[in-house]
Order: sequence, then structure tokens, then C-alpha cells
Amino acid sequence: MPSAVHPLSLIPLGLLLGEAALGLLSVNPIQDLILRTGKAGLVLLLLTLACTPLKRLTGWKWLLALRKPLGLYSFLYVSLHLVAFAVIDFGLDLALISQAIAEKRYVLAGMASFSLLLPLALTSTKAAQRRLGRWWRPLHRLIYPAALLAALHYLWLAKVPREPLIFLAILGGLLALRLPWWRIR
Ligand code: HEM
Repeated sequence: MPSAVHPLSLIPLGLLLGEAALGLLSVNPIQDLILRTGKAGLVLLLLTLACTPLKRLTGWKWLLALRKPLGLYSFLYVSLHLVAFAVIDFGLDLALISQAIAEKRYVLAGMASFSLLLPLALTSTKAAQRRLGRWWRPLHRLIYPAALLAALHYLWLAKVPREPLIFLAILGGLLALRLPWWRIR
């Protein structure tokens, strides 16, 4: 099962590239790229957070081995999302990008989420884990505010809040399952 995580996580990217090659994307392919990489990044982030509570419920230890690849695939999509936004859409115009961050709270939340995910991706190796020692765990708790900011980013940009609210509810459930009172039960 753990090895299936690689082909499964790459499906959204494969579909995107396939549709682009066949000319099946919409009239705004950059928008397609931004929206679909963002959605894949958020779904994979929530799946990363679901592994530990699911392991506790089922006892399946192999679920824990999925956290690292799922987290890294989430970061891959979010990085593509940022490249699509900053390089392809905004032509790396730093003045325009700063203006978007200052004017749109959803861009600020997305950037903040990405900034929290970056150190997690950079310290995901065994060597970094050894180097950081007891600091590795508290550092990797940054995934919680990062996920919350990502879900708020989606809520604040959406014209219809239904789907982002579903993501927020799932995230709230996953975070609640980590609270001490639930674990004691
Ligand atoms: C790196 C900083 C980020 C920037 C500049 C950014 C920017 C954007 C932009 C411009 C859109 C499209 C808005 C629209 O067309 O209405 C978008 C959509 C989205 N972003 Fe981000 N984002 C960032 C980070 C993130 C992160 C970290 C996640 C999740 C982990 C994420 C998930 C999403 C989702 C789920 C959507 C909506 C997809 C849909 O409607 O289907 N973004 N983002």
C-alpha cells in the first residue's frame, strides 16, 4: 500500500499534463494550472494530517509511513501552484506580486501557508531529523497552522463558500482528533 502513494499522488499532475498536451484545458489554461495544483496541494495536505488519527482508529501502522510522501507531494503541488501564480501569471513582477499580497488577504494567507510548509519540506530527510534532534517534532507541528491558513486561503478566494467550508470542517475534525481529551477516550 505505501508504494501506491507515488502513482496515486501523481495522478492530478498526469491528468493536467495530459489535458494540456491534448489541448483539453479551458480557454484560461494558467487559471486551470493554478486552481488544479492548489486543490491537489490542499487535498494531499489533509490526507497527510489524516494518517495519524486513521492509524489510531484502525491500528494500521503502515499509515504512518504515508505521512512523509503525502506531505512532500502536497509541497510539490503547492510549489507548482506558486510558480504558476508568480512566474507564469505575474511574470515574476515583484511589485505586482507585493501589491497582490497587500491587497488580497487570500494571497497573504496562501503565502503564509507556503512559508510554513517550506521548512517542513526542507527538514523532511532523515539527516535533517537527526540534526534537529528534539526540535524536529515541534518544528513539524507547523503543519497545523499551515493547513489552517491554506483552508482559509481557499475560503477567502472562493465565490461560493460551500466546498472550502467542507475542507475547513474536515480539517477541524482532523485537528480535534488530536486533542488530548479525545486521545484519552
Ligand atoms: C504560495 C502562495 C500562494 C499563492 C500566491 C496562491 C494563489 C492562488 C490563486 C491566485 C488562486 C486562484 C484564485 C482565483 O482564480 O480565484 C489560488 C487558488 C487556490 N489555492 Fe492557492 N496560493 C498559494 C498557496 C496555496 C497553498 C499553500 C494551498 C494549499 C495547500 C493553496 C490552495 C489553493 C486552492 C485549494 C485554490 C482553489 C482551487 C479551486 O478553486 O479549485 N494555495 N491560489
